Formats: sequence, C-alpha cells, structure tokens
Amino acid sequence: MTKLRLGYIGCGYMAQKVHIPNIVAIDACELVAIAEVRPKLGRMVQERYGIPKLYQSHRELARDRDIDAVALSGHYAVQGDIAIDLLNAGKDVFMEKPMAISVEQAERILAAEKSSGKRVMVAYMKRYDPGNIRVKELIDQAVAAKDLGQIRYVRNHGFGGDWTGGLDTPFDQSDEKYPDCAFTWPGWLPEKNRQGYIDYLQQYTHNINLVRWFLGSTGGVTVKAAELGANGVHGVVVLDVGGVPVTIESGWLDYEGWDEHTQVFFDKGWVRTEAPPLLLKNVPATIEVYRADQAEKSATKLFPKGGRNWSYREEMRHFVACVANGAPFRSPASDTIEDVRVLEDIYKHFIAARSAPAQAQSRASAR
Ligand SMILES: NC(=O)c1ccc[n+]([C@@H]2O[C@H](COP(=O)([O-])OP(=O)(O)OC[C@H]3O[C@@H](n4cnc5c(N)ncnc54)[C@H](O)[C@@H]3O)[C@@H](O)[C@H]2O)c1
Repeated sequence: MTKLRLGYIGCGYMAQKVHIPNIVAIDACELVAIAEVRPKLGRMVQERYGIPKLYQSHRELARDRDIDAVALSGHYAVQGDIAIDLLNAGKDVFMEKPMAISVEQAERILAAEKSSGKRVMVAYMKRYDPGNIRVKELIDQAVAAKDLGQIRYVRNHGFGGDWTGGLDTPFDQSDEKYPDCAFTWPGWLPEKNRQGYIDYLQQYTHNINLVRWFLGSTGGVTVKAAELGANGVHGVVVLDVGGVPVTIESGWLDYEGWDEHTQVFFDKGWVRTEAPPLLLKNVPATIEVYRADQAEKSATKLFPKGGRNWSYREEMRHFVACVANGAPFRSPASDTIEDVRVLEDIYKHFIAARSAPAQAQSRASAR
C-alpha cells in the first residue's frame, strides 16, 4: 500500500496533543516533515516523534515535492492565510477551525481552492464523532420516512467547562517568543468587541456547524436574535436554519465536566445527543431517541455503529482517505464558510441590539 506523505505546520497545543499523535497512528499515511516558526520547539517535536524533516517556514515545507498533502494548526488569525499559501503551492490542506475570522479571509481561501484545483478540509471533529454520525442517520431516516412528522425546533445548549478531558499526551513547550500575527478582522467589527467575537467564535462555530450538518443545511441560515451578555459570550442566539427555529445557548463555567447537548424535536418525537468534553478520547456523543408514533411510546438509548473511537482520529483518517481516493470531504471549506458568515451576522445582531436601548435613551432625553 502506498502511504500518503503528509507535512504538518505548527507544533503547538493541538498539533502535539491531538493531530501529530493521530497521524503517526494511522497506517494509511506517514509524517515526513513539520514546520514550526519557533525552531527549538520544532526540534523538540521532531525528536519526540522521529520526524525526518523540520522546516522553520511553512513556505519551505510547501515547496517540498516529497509531500502529498499538509495538515495545519496555527494561530486562529493566520492559519487561513497559511492555507492559501499551501493551496497555491499545489497541496491539499487539512486545517483547524476556524477557517477564517472574517468572510473576506474565507472567500480568499475559496478563491485559492478554485485557482489551484486543490482542496481544504476544515477540522470540525464533531462531524466525525461516531455518536453524531448515528444521530445524523436517525434524523435523515425520520425526515425521509416522515414517521415522526416534521422537524419543528432544534435546541443546542453549550456550556463549556474542562474541554481537555484529562488528555495526558506529552506536550513540549519552549521559551521562544510567540510569532507576531496579522489579523484580518471584519471591517465593521468595533475594536472593543473583538475579544468577545473571538471567544464566541472559537467555541460556537463548532455548535453552529454541527446543527447545520444535522439539518442538512449548506446555506441560507438567518440570524433572528442574539443576546450574549456583557462579555459577549453568555446568552442565547436564535437562528432560522432552512425554516427550522434553532437556539444556541452559550456560556462557560468553572466546571470539571462539559455541559453540551443538541435536541432535534419532531411532531412525534425527538433525537437527542450529549457531547463529551472536546478532547476526551474514545467517548462518543450519546444517542437517544423518543418516539410517539407507535402504540407504545418509547425512549431508547443507542450506541454508535463500529464501537468507540475518537472524533479527532476519525477526522484525520477521513482527510487521508479523501485525498487518496478523491472523495468529497464531510467538512469542506466550501461549506464551512457558511459558519463564518453566520458568526459575523450573530455579532452584528448582538452589537446592534446592545446599542439600540442606549440610542433610544439618548433620543428620548434629547426630546
Ligand atoms: N478542534 C478543536 O477542538 C480545537 C481546540 C483547540 C484549538 N483549536 C484550533 O486549533 C488552532 C491551533 O490552536 P493551538 O492551541 O494548537 O495553538 P498554538 O498557539 O498552541 O499553536 C500554533 C503553533 O503554530 C506556530 N505557527 C504560527 N505561525 C506559523 C507558521 N507560519 N509556520 C509554522 N508554524 C507557525 C506557533 O509558533 C505555534 O507553535 C486554532 O486555530 C484553534 O482555534 C481547535
């Protein structure tokens, strides 16, 4: 079997804790080179995993003709531009979410895909969780059979806590200066809202991406309302996803667990899933189905087909297989740009709603 020859860019937290260990454990690929701007850190990771080549710049790695495809986890603000350089060098790309922090940056990635003929997969691991895959099948079956009636409402409740799930993979760190990053902020976003925007985007892009996938939505999401509190993160967003009302409840607690579930309500039943802490290994999302379409009403817990595995390992396997056989990605950049659009719209609504009472007050006092 010919193995896919991968390069990896960025040797930070996600690279070391998740993606590099997964790549070296997958038989269908081999890791031939890494690139890290901090040379001491790069050498530590190279030695730990016995990786043949180390580059200090992603552009040097991109020029390596020995590499078939590249995986990437850089700083969230710049990894989209690194992906563009990789596409232009003729490489297919696996990149961490978010693909971009503005629609403008995301559109440049799609333009580079088009001109290069190469493809980007964005790492939305929830779409590769075996529990979520079964949930998606159950929703699709119920929609096709119409036995539970129509989908009326979706609730996603996502209160974060300890997302690392005790993951004990080694993590090398160095005292080198972190590289400077150029931010492509949305032009309309006020400076004082940037931190809240990033804090919200970094987590809830996952939740929005998952709900869109459950509902088979590739576009046409409308933001109806957004209240995200004083810190721009704790609150509720109301969306219309293909005619279905959806709420996304967001917040963080000092909590050892991870309090996230998604429930899809039909006329005569529901499908519900609870998410594991993000990095918890080999614990898939739960699957529960309530049916009121039969004489005896039932709530059933199911288990994923194929047993336990790790969403992050499965997403990397998927990338390697799709590059090798040309099959479409389950989370292609051409779809995930929609998440960037929705995120910008949520924040526009949130900022407008927050400033509306102040404007109304100043109009009233001017009278
Ligand atoms: N899917 C998930 O569950 C999940 C969880 C956490 C973070 N993330 C995403 O993963 C990405 C990376 O996060 P992280 O915590 O690993 O970040 P990090 O800062 O720990 O790692 C990024 C690394 O990239 C290096 N780097 C930056 N520019 C580079 C360049 N041009 N060439 C080579 N190396 C470069 C930095 O020196 C750093 O070592 C972020 O976009 C984040 O949103 C995803």
